[in-house]
This record gives sequence, C-alpha cells and structure tokens, in this order.
Amino acid sequence: MFTNRRIFYLKCVIVIAILYLFAYIFTNSNTSDIIRELQQSGRNLAALEHQQTPPDHVDSIRNLQNVPETLVLLPEEKSEKGYEEVNNILTTNSTKLVSAVSASEDPRVVVLNKVREVTKCLDKPLIPKIQQRGDYWVLYNYVRAEKRYKCHETITYTTHADYSFLDNLVPLLERWKGPVSIALHAPGTDFASTLDSIAYLRDCTSPLVKEFVTFHVYFSTKHVPKQVPRHDKVLQEAFNCSQISPFFNVSTEQMYKTQKKLLYPVNVGRNVARETAQTHYILPSDIELYPSPTIIQQFLEMIAENVGPLLSKNPKVFPLHLFEVSGNQQVPDNKTVLKEMLVNGTALPFHKKLCPGCHNVPKSKEWKEANETKGLHVFHVGKRMGNFVHWEPIFIGTHADPLYDERLSWEGKSDKMTQGYALCVLDYDFLILDNAFLVHKPGIKVYKKDSKRALLAAKTNQLIKKIIFPELKVIYGVKKGCAV
Ligand SMILES: *[C@@H]1O[C@H](CO)[C@@H](O)[C@H](O)[C@H]1NC(C)=O
Ligand SMILES: *[C@@H]1O[C@H](CO)[C@@H](O)[C@H](O)[C@H]1NC(C)=O
Ligand SMILES: *[C@@H]1O[C@H](CO)[C@@H](O)[C@H](O)[C@H]1NC(C)=O
Ligand SMILES: *[C@@H]1O[C@H](CO)[C@@H](O)[C@H](O)[C@H]1NC(C)=O
Ligand SMILES: *[C@@H]1O[C@H](CO)[C@@H](O)[C@H](O)[C@H]1NC(C)=O
Ligand SMILES: *[C@@H]1O[C@H](CO)[C@@H](O)[C@H](O)[C@H]1NC(C)=O
Repeated sequence: MFTNRRIFYLKCVIVIAILYLFAYIFTNSNTSDIIRELQQSGRNLAALEHQQTPPDHVDSIRNLQNVPETLVLLPEEKSEKGYEEVNNILTTNSTKLVSAVSASEDPRVVVLNKVREVTKCLDKPLIPKIQQRGDYWVLYNYVRAEKRYKCHETITYTTHADYSFLDNLVPLLERWKGPVSIALHAPGTDFASTLDSIAYLRDCTSPLVKEFVTFHVYFSTKHVPKQVPRHDKVLQEAFNCSQISPFFNVSTEQMYKTQKKLLYPVNVGRNVARETAQTHYILPSDIELYPSPTIIQQFLEMIAENVGPLLSKNPKVFPLHLFEVSGNQQVPDNKTVLKEMLVNGTALPFHKKLCPGCHNVPKSKEWKEANETKGLHVFHVGKRMGNFVHWEPIFIGTHADPLYDERLSWEGKSDKMTQGYALCVLDYDFLILDNAFLVHKPGIKVYKKDSKRALLAAKTNQLIKKIIFPELKVIYGVKKGCAV
C-alpha cells in the first residue's frame, strides 16, 4: 500500500514538473524559479510521507479563528453535531457566532453543565436486551421512548405495574413531563393484554407516552406467554382507537395472575425499571403517585446551586411528602392549593387511615405549616432513626442507592424495609424537599381486612427476621438505632 502510494506521488511530482517546465519555457521565465517550484513539490511529498494524525478538528478551527473555548464545548459536548455547528458558525457569519455564544449563557444550559460537573455522571445507552433475572425472564427496553437523555439532563421516574394500573400513566406524565421507565409484570395471557395496553397508550392517548415512556416487560419462567415478538417486531400495527382501552375497568378476577394465584413480584419490577434509567437522578415511585409539576427543573437548579446540606459528605436521598385526596377532588398543582385542601379536609397525609406510622416524615407538622416559596430547597435533614425507624420514604436518589430485595412481594408487605435498613446503616442523609410532593390518584384508602394478605405478611416478617435481616447485617453491617 505504502510504496504504491509513494510511487503515485512521485509520478504526480514528475508530471507537475514537466507541466511547469513547459509552462516556463513558453512564458520565458528564469530557471531559478523552476528549481524552487520543484523543491517545493519535493517538500510537499516528504510532508505527505511523514504525515501524522491531524490535530483535533475543533482545536484546529479554534486555533485558526480564535473562538472562545466555551462555544466549542458547550452546545453539544463534542458530538458530531457540535462540530458541524461550530463549522457552520465559523464559515458563515458573525451574527450567528454572537447568538451561539449567548446560547451558551442560557441559564438552563448553565444549570445542566453545573449538574454534570457536580454529579460526574456517565451516560447510558437505551438498548433492548433479553435476560433472565432469578426466576424471571425480562425484556429490557422492550418498547422505547423516542427521547434520549444524557445522564445529567433530567430525572427519570421509575416504576412498576401490571396492565390494570396503566390508566395512571397519562395523568402522571402530564405532571412529570420527563422520562418514565416502567416495568410491567405480564405472565401468561396477561402478556397480550399488556402489549395491547402499550399500543393503546402510544397510539390513542397523549403524545407524551411515545416521547417519554420506556416499557420493560417481565414474567416468571413458569408462566411464559405463548408468543413473544422480538423488540423490533412488536407494535407493528396501529391500534384501533375506536375500541375501548384494554385496561378500562379490568377486574382482577379476569387476570391470568389472579387465576394462577401468582404473587406480584414488586421488587423485580422496581429494580428493572431503576437499573435501565438513563439519568443520574431517579425517582423510584409507585405509578399511582403523581408528582407536583416542575419538580425536574427546580430540582436540577437546586443541585447546580450545590449549597448547604448538599455539601455534606454523607450519601443523600431527597424524600417527597406523600398525600391522598378525596375521590371527587383534583390533584393539587402546588403547595398553596394542597395546604388549603389539608385545612378543609379534602387532602390527608398518605395512608393516614391505613397505617398512620408508616409514612411519618420528620418535621411534617412544620412542613404543612410552611408557605410555598419559589424554587426547591431542602426543608429538613432527617435520619431513618428514632420515631422514623420504620419510615418507608419515596425519594429522588441515584443508581448508587441500595436496590430492593427481590424475594419480597407486594402482597407480603414490608417490601421496602430492607432497603430502608441499608440506608440507615450506610448513614444516608434524608434531605426532605420543601415545595415538592406526591399525591395518590384521587380516592382515600381505608383499612379493609384481608386475612389472606395478613397471613402472607406474617410469613414475610418471618422471612425478613430469620433470613434476610441476618444477611443484611453481614453485608451492610450494624449500627445503633437502625432497624428493618
Ligand atoms: C447570517 O446570519 C443571519 C442570522 O442568523 C442570517 O439571517 C443570514 O442569512 C446569515 N447569512 C449567511 C450568509 O449565512
Ligand atoms: C375499529 O373498531 C371499531 C369498534 O370495535 C369497529 O367498528 C371498526 O370496524 C374497527 N376498525 C378497523 C379498521 O378494524
Ligand atoms: C366495571 O366493571 C364492573 C364489574 O365488572 C361493572 O359492574 C361496572 O358496570 C363496570 N363499569 C363500567 C363503567 O363499565
Ligand atoms: C397554584 O395553583 C393554582 C391552581 O392551579 C393557581 O391558581 C395558582 O396561581 C398557583 N399558585 C402558585 C403560587 O403557583
Ligand atoms: C377545599 O379546598 C380546595 C382548594 O382550595 C377546594 O378546591 C375545595 O373545593 C375545598 N373543598 C371544600 C369541601 O371546602
Ligand atoms: C402564609 O400565607 C398566608 C396566606 O397567604 C399568610 O396569611 C400567612 O401570614 C403566611 N405565613 C407566613 C408564616 O408567612
């Protein structure tokens, strides 16, 4: 290859030399010029032979044109598109150059760059894969959202469900307006209903579904559906939107899961949805809990500001207060309205009537009294100790936080307790947020006796006490004041 190329260049030089000779002879110029031209061609050849990798494209542009560094790095972080943009700016006109520089001072861009700096996070691709996980087959990233994110750009709401809960997805999205990662339990014939539900949501409801939601599907190895299309063959036909939604008024009796008396493996779903989230910050939640609007932007602004308790060396999570509202009420849009509803009794702290101790939050009385302010801040730093030793908070956290124990089921209860213990032993700070909160789908839950579930809960407690807790003590250690 190399010698061929050299011969080719030599030939070129000779041809050029001959052409020059003719040219000069015909134009009568002097011979020293001819010699200089020949020498120059020789130097060009030598340079080609010793050719090194050219300097970085952008750097060389920068050197030539003396462009401020921020412009080159900010808009697209060295992506191909970034190069093109810089190139276009440089080769066209200065009006564009000025507008590009001021775009880099766009406060949103400044916030995001600061978040990237503070979190030092790594981007993650969104790739479909099939994998076994314990006793389950999991179709990760089975139906993907259209929007992709870099790790610092937003927060992912991660959740789990079966298809009968999917009526919550649109109201949730209308408030969240950001990425959602959802794992759906779909054993046996529930699989087909689940696919229909996804198709219906994408084709017949809000465009936010296609834009933001990535669906994962999983089922037990003992309850594999009859047919499982590959991820690139699924949802090829548009859903007939004049049919009623596949999750409308589903009775549990008609579900495969109920007929086969299967438990709901809540923590498999939670972990699948969490692990696949593309962003550094995640909000692992239950699909019936709707977030107050504008959390994402305000939270990232708070992270970018990076002051006060955010500077602590301890690992941190950011719990949200939880509420429920009467069935005939709208979910409040902000803390001001929520406060009015708490006063007139149309809103209550979550599960106040079901399990008053479970969701006690440190300084909750003060929180309820405090007026809404602008932006988002840390209201109080709590620990999962003392009165709050059994606290099951829902919080914005990161991938570094302990996952959930997949041996626990929803029916058996206490499904988040083992994570809580780990957070306590690892000395997590619970940075409770001031103006953000979650509200359960309207309807206040009251206690209903369920002897089957009570029996299962008792068994689960034994499993935790005899098997899981001793393991946790070995793995995470012990700490005075921490309990499962
Ligand atoms: C220069 O930029 C302005 C503003 O973006 C644009 O209207 C104009 O067409 C550009 N001129 C050239 C030659 O690209
Ligand atoms: C769509 O569903 C409606 C109601 O079930 C039905 O009348 C109609 O024929 C269907 N359309 C197509 C194209 O299948
Ligand atoms: C929902 O299902 C129940 C029982 O299956 C039925 O009695 C009720 O009428 C249904 N509601 C609607 C709105 O279709
Ligand atoms: C809170 O929400 C209500 C109802 O949506 C609205 O009228 C009010 O302006 C909002 N208040 C603030 C401070 O945003
Ligand atoms: C309670 O307050 C909310 C918010 O201000 C209001 O929408 C609702 O109508 C009130 N309900 C009652 C029963 O006063
Ligand atoms: C909170 O807001 C209410 C109504 O706007 C006002 O009357 C009250 O004084 C405020 N409380 C504090 C502590 O600022």
